[in-house]
Amino acid sequence: MDRTDGESSGQQRWFADRYAANARFVSDLAEPLIEILAPKKGEFILDLGCGDGALTKLVFDSGATVIGADASFDQVTACKKLGIPSVAMDGHNLAFNEVFDAILTNAALHWMTSPDDVINGMWAALKPGGRLVGEMGGAGNIATIIRALTEALTCRGLQDKIEFPWFFPHEQEYRQRLEARGFIVDYIELIPRPTPLPGELTNWLDTFGEQFLFLVPEKERQGFKKEVAEAVRPDLFEPHGRWVADYVRLRFSATRSAES
Ligand code: BEZ
Repeated sequence: MDRTDGESSGQQRWFADRYAANARFVSDLAEPLIEILAPKKGEFILDLGCGDGALTKLVFDSGATVIGADASFDQVTACKKLGIPSVAMDGHNLAFNEVFDAILTNAALHWMTSPDDVINGMWAALKPGGRLVGEMGGAGNIATIIRALTEALTCRGLQDKIEFPWFFPHEQEYRQRLEARGFIVDYIELIPRPTPLPGELTNWLDTFGEQFLFLVPEKERQGFKKEVAEAVRPDLFEPHGRWVADYVRLRFSATRSAES
């Protein structure tokens, strides 16, 4: 696989093998969403931002018909290998019209920085009465890591180059956006969830922080990552030796009203 492809665009890239090694916790910790979704045999469900399909598989195993959508071809290929129909699609441009009984979305919406376009697309994709169940990074998510990345880039005079790649809303803001589109918000909650990482913080930066790393010349990147890790160590490294990232989740459940 060509690992330099896409780097010049400065965009975050997703590789299924790297994701499996460094980010399996993303789907493992989201299993409560399946309980809220309560998928049923005969339902047609979209997993928006399906990643490599680990969570999608739980919906699939419930007997519902599920389709995965993800912006990454590599992740879509991994999802298909689990036997789950999947399509490569940008969540800002969902092209479905009143076909789904429910949409599940985990750890994906915060990568989509025009939230109303995404909400409009999810609304249109659901049948009247359809359910939306999701979790994303919420206000304060990874604040310690963001501060350290910003400071390390500022030290290098690169602060003006930072394009913040994430959308981490407060619960009130996201509720308002959903309601403005006509969703009935059944539940929404901001949940601090300190998250143990499976390895080094530098691996997390490689997996999730490429838009920051790409701003630094390649030969300086190792040093940059170590500098960021040292800056957050007092807050995020536990005494008995594991990194715990300061995740905050925004979890919600909403319904497209039956009348429209
Ligand atoms: C997350 O909240 O899942 C997340 C946000 C930004 C980067 C990586 C993960």
